[in-house]
Amino acid sequence: MKIHLNARNRAHRFEADADEKLLYAALSDAVDLPYECGSGTCGTCRARILEGEIDDGWPDAPGRKFLKGPDEILLCQCTARTDLVIEVSSFVHTMEAGASTPQHFKGRVSAMRRLTHDVVSLDVQLDGSMDYDAGQFVMVRAAGVPGYRGWSMVNYERSARKLQFVVKNKAGGGLSTWLFERAAEGAELDIFGPLGRATFFPALAKNILCIAGGSGIAGMMAIIARAAHDAYFTQYRGDVFFGVRTMKDAFFLGELADFVERCGEKFSVTIALSDEPVPQAAARDHPRLHFAHGLVHEIAGARMSGRYQNVRAYLAGPPPAVDASIRTLLQARLSTDNIRYDKFS
Ligand SMILES: Cc1cc2nc3c(=O)[nH]c(=O)nc-3n(C[C@H](O)[C@H](O)[C@H](O)COP(=O)(O)OP(=O)(O)OC[C@H]3O[C@@H](n4cnc5c(N)ncnc54)[C@H](O)[C@@H]3O)c2cc1C
Ligand code: FES
Repeated sequence: MKIHLNARNRAHRFEADADEKLLYAALSDAVDLPYECGSGTCGTCRARILEGEIDDGWPDAPGRKFLKGPDEILLCQCTARTDLVIEVSSFVHTMEAGASTPQHFKGRVSAMRRLTHDVVSLDVQLDGSMDYDAGQFVMVRAAGVPGYRGWSMVNYERSARKLQFVVKNKAGGGLSTWLFERAAEGAELDIFGPLGRATFFPALAKNILCIAGGSGIAGMMAIIARAAHDAYFTQYRGDVFFGVRTMKDAFFLGELADFVERCGEKFSVTIALSDEPVPQAAARDHPRLHFAHGLVHEIAGARMSGRYQNVRAYLAGPPPAVDASIRTLLQARLSTDNIRYDKFS
């Protein structure tokens, strides 16, 4: 199907297969439409249909509450039934030459490991290689589960053929139930990516602040790995705050401690326990990490007070934790350009 897109600055043309989400079709043709979640909740991919017919894959998507009329749709949920003319109110540019244009891949689960009672790590082998930036995510779909979900890459490598993820079990969730009850090594996944703008490049030349809730630590691990690889923390500070409920919900502590040892004194990691005081054994078992009792955005806010000069913040995790962290950073007068986030909605 041929799609004609009128944006505020110019028109674009791209092709979409009959079963391909319009957002994904545009992005894979290097048309850089705005999006956040890629999965029907945030409303950022809102567009107006001027001509043609679509099929809506999820008419109950929560993001539809942001639509302003019956001719508006979510591009991440809809497919084209005919050729279309659509309109978005934002500026839309073509991706820069050399950017990693998102593409469709087939993936196969090659390893699965329980990290806690409700978090697994999994490795997914791709049928091709993917270039992505530290902090990016992909959209994932499994047979029998309607819709795509975002998962952030934990590993960082160029031309990756294997992606590593950490996924938290959401009680009753579609993909969670598939992953925790039915999936096994060899299970197949449809993957679309890479996506996301909460990315880190060593040329940033700023101190880094990471605030993660639960599985939100995933993309932070890629950012830290990228920075550590380039000895970034010999010059710039890195402060990581990882919020979990209790010690039994914490994971990657060994990996984070290894980063502290490798990166030196400009790099610190604090584990914030929201639902229990810090057990005495925590500091003894993990001497390179700091521990505190409280909500992660409060702990980060208190420890970072007066230390926001030349800082870029990366936030990820459940939407309430990310929203609270954004408020904390805005109160500290960090500019919106220096607050990059992924809400795991
Ligand atoms: C940018 C981003 C990165 C993320 N990274 C991670 C990560 O690294 N690790 C992690 O554990 N979680 C991550 N998440 C959250 C993850 O995508 C899922 O929301 C979460 O795992 C729960 O999925 P579920 O299928 O179990 O729950 P569900 O409640 O079934 O679904 C959760 C989401 O899937 C979509 N969805 C649900 N039903 C449909 C449908 N019928 N059709 C289309 N879409 C549907 C919606 O967006 C919904 O909010 C991320 C989310 C985003 C947006
Ligand atoms: S990108 Fe489509 S609703 Fe979020």
